Amino acid sequence: MDSLVFDLINKELERQRHGVELIASENFTSAAVIKAMGSCLTNKYAEGYPGKRYYGGCEVVDQIEQLAIDRVCEIFSAEYANVQPHSGAQANASVFLACLKPGDSFLGFDLSHGGHLSHGSPVNYSGLVYNAHFYGVEEETGTIDMDKVEAKALEVKPKLIVCGASAYSRDWDYARFRAIADKVGALLMADIAHPAGLIAAKELNDPIPHCHIVTSTTHKTLRGPRGGIIVMGKDFENPWGRTTKKGEAIMMSSVLNSGVFPGMQGGPLEHVIAAKAVAFGEVLDPSFTTYAKQVKSNAQAMAKSLVEKGYGIISGGTDNHLMLIDLRSKFPDLNGRQAENALIQADITINKNMVPFDSRSAFVTSGIRIGTAAITTRGFVEQDCLQVVEWMDEVLNNFEDEKKLAGIRSEVNQYMQKFPLYENELTAV
Ligand SMILES: Cc1ncc(COP(=O)(O)O)c(C=O)c1O
Repeated sequence: MDSLVFDLINKELERQRHGVELIASENFTSAAVIKAMGSCLTNKYAEGYPGKRYYGGCEVVDQIEQLAIDRVCEIFSAEYANVQPHSGAQANASVFLACLKPGDSFLGFDLSHGGHLSHGSPVNYSGLVYNAHFYGVEEETGTIDMDKVEAKALEVKPKLIVCGASAYSRDWDYARFRAIADKVGALLMADIAHPAGLIAAKELNDPIPHCHIVTSTTHKTLRGPRGGIIVMGKDFENPWGRTTKKGEAIMMSSVLNSGVFPGMQGGPLEHVIAAKAVAFGEVLDPSFTTYAKQVKSNAQAMAKSLVEKGYGIISGGTDNHLMLIDLRSKFPDLNGRQAENALIQADITINKNMVPFDSRSAFVTSGIRIGTAAITTRGFVEQDCLQVVEWMDEVLNNFEDEKKLAGIRSEVNQYMQKFPLYENELTAV
């Protein structure tokens, strides 16, 4: 055994056990998900799709991949699914490749307002290859004004409109987005990387009936392995876009499959696909709905308590699992980077994040983003979340007092012992 690597893995397991994980994009998978990822399936090449592979010996992985497809379709009442994208960004890249030509215009949510890099950032392929335009939130309300989205769409006439974000705490009006897309003849894609688990549990609006294409990660609120998916509702048979050399329409489903493989990726990660199948099975269990409801209640409890303590939450609260805190309302001189560093010293892990109309750069920021998906998996309920807000407030009030931060850290570590993680499931190697 390579002790250099495995000692570090054990160290990371201890870090995860002892800290309060508030990074909105993280979660703790089940031990079964980890087991599937660490299996012999990593040895198998399987370019292609179930029943149509470029390699022999795929009888077993075909069944595994089909199981993942069937389960994710059941979760989202989808008609089509591709479970091969290696990540959320790969899923988005595959859709863009399938639906756009270089230089085509698309409309996405502004990165500096909470959007994602893969929705048109100038340093990402999506902004380098395509002509990206943006809508954002209103400064006063922190929410999206749909009339402005419509005006922007009419102005730039995009081929594709993208809804979904990395740091937006309100639900999305997919029906209105579709009406706008139809008006300008655009395809509509929802990237539900963040709220997918809450959508699966029907705790948020459902994009499937309205959006032509839906992409997601599988590792955030969906609580699976790191990876991506693409799903479609009735539009899977839509002949939008491509035709064969003979002029016959090609269905969206096969255009998207080609976008993933061979367009964007080579061989699928069948060990990760097996782990996705395991996680999707867990999402289909009724206990997942209880989890998703608790994720939401915990986020609402935290937002309320933070507001009571004088923190500004963008849009005033949250409908989902996350919120963006504008530190300037309580601490005009404390930036996101300092806040992140101080909280980490207390074993409370968050990330600095730009707030809309931020006066500071992306490396410094005026905000932090927090989410409740991971702590809810640990077993936290509202009362525990209020304790976390107390610690956060104490840390931020004393962000340069190392002794104080160390004291909070030992309280945090002690507290977390009540919430075992992978105990008797994952042993140190
Ligand atoms: C909205 C959104 N889309 C896509 C991604 C990219 O996912 P990945 O990191 O798996 O590529 C993220 C990740 O944070 C995200 O928030």
